[in-house]
Amino acid sequence: MNYRHAFHAGNFADVFKHLILTRLLLYLARKATPFRYIDTHAGIGVYDLSSDEAQRTGEWRDGIGRIIAADFPADVRVLTQPYLDIVRGLNPDGGLRHYPGSPVLAAKLLRQTDRIALCELHPQDARTLRAAMRRDERVKVVEIDGYTGLNAFTPPPERRGLALIDPPFEETDEFERVLKALKVAHAKWPTGVYAIWHPFKHPDRVARFLDALVASGIRRVLSVEIQTCAFDPLGPLSGCGMTIVNPTHGLADELEIVLPALTNCLATGEGYAWRVRELVGE
Ligand SMILES: C[S@@+](CC[C@H](N)C(=O)[O-])C[C@H]1O[C@@H](n2cnc3c(N)ncnc32)[C@H](O)[C@@H]1O
Repeated sequence: MNYRHAFHAGNFADVFKHLILTRLLLYLARKATPFRYIDTHAGIGVYDLSSDEAQRTGEWRDGIGRIIAADFPADVRVLTQPYLDIVRGLNPDGGLRHYPGSPVLAAKLLRQTDRIALCELHPQDARTLRAAMRRDERVKVVEIDGYTGLNAFTPPPERRGLALIDPPFEETDEFERVLKALKVAHAKWPTGVYAIWHPFKHPDRVARFLDALVASGIRRVLSVEIQTCAFDPLGPLSGCGMTIVNPTHGLADELEIVLPALTNCLATGEGYAWRVRELVGE
């Protein structure tokens, strides 16, 4: 486990993932009945963009650094504002020093009756996460493998909810692990929303994963992708995707509004692009 998210916090991929996560959670929170948020690879909760790690890569400057200063049209602003308000809320003195990870975004968006289960296997990160989420009685932090956790936490007693699957993709078989865990969880909890983030580093692996997901028989699958410049297998990460099982109502339409402006703002070169497509229907 060498992956440290502190090097990448707030980069274009985080912005893309967290914006989609925010839209999903806001929708779930519209209905009065409680729901559960499960984060299989939770990270540390809050990232310090002035840290050595964040400064060394500077990735956040081309991610949240651009988006926070963007002048979006009104229809885009309405959809990005809840996410950006949370980022601004962590930086009450203005500027941009603290960036929320997925657990903190969820904690800000969920209600008192909702519950949050966070899995983080790295012992030090699990400790930091526990400290970041302290005093929040809705939250359970477990130092456990995320796929084991997903199995343990599904189906949640609330029967409504979302699982974010956001692994580091250090291992060559990560996509296979994701699919295996997803199939087991989905068989027990077919109505849950599952959001799976993936990097676009090995196009063949992504294609195999999506093909296998389609072949699995799981219905209602949406694929969302972003590319900030033309794909270069030898260059730094320039694209990623989020695959969503049981996407919330209206999500695809919202993303069709947001992604053109978001991608324009995050673009670093020719060949930038976005795509929203239904992989499997009802
Ligand atoms: C991409 S980061 C998570 C970022 C976080 N979801 C967010 O959006 O703020 C992946 C995290 O998974 C942790 N990790 C690595 N292997 C794991 C495993 N098998 N189970 C759970 N966590 C793991 C890493 O320590 C790292 O903190």
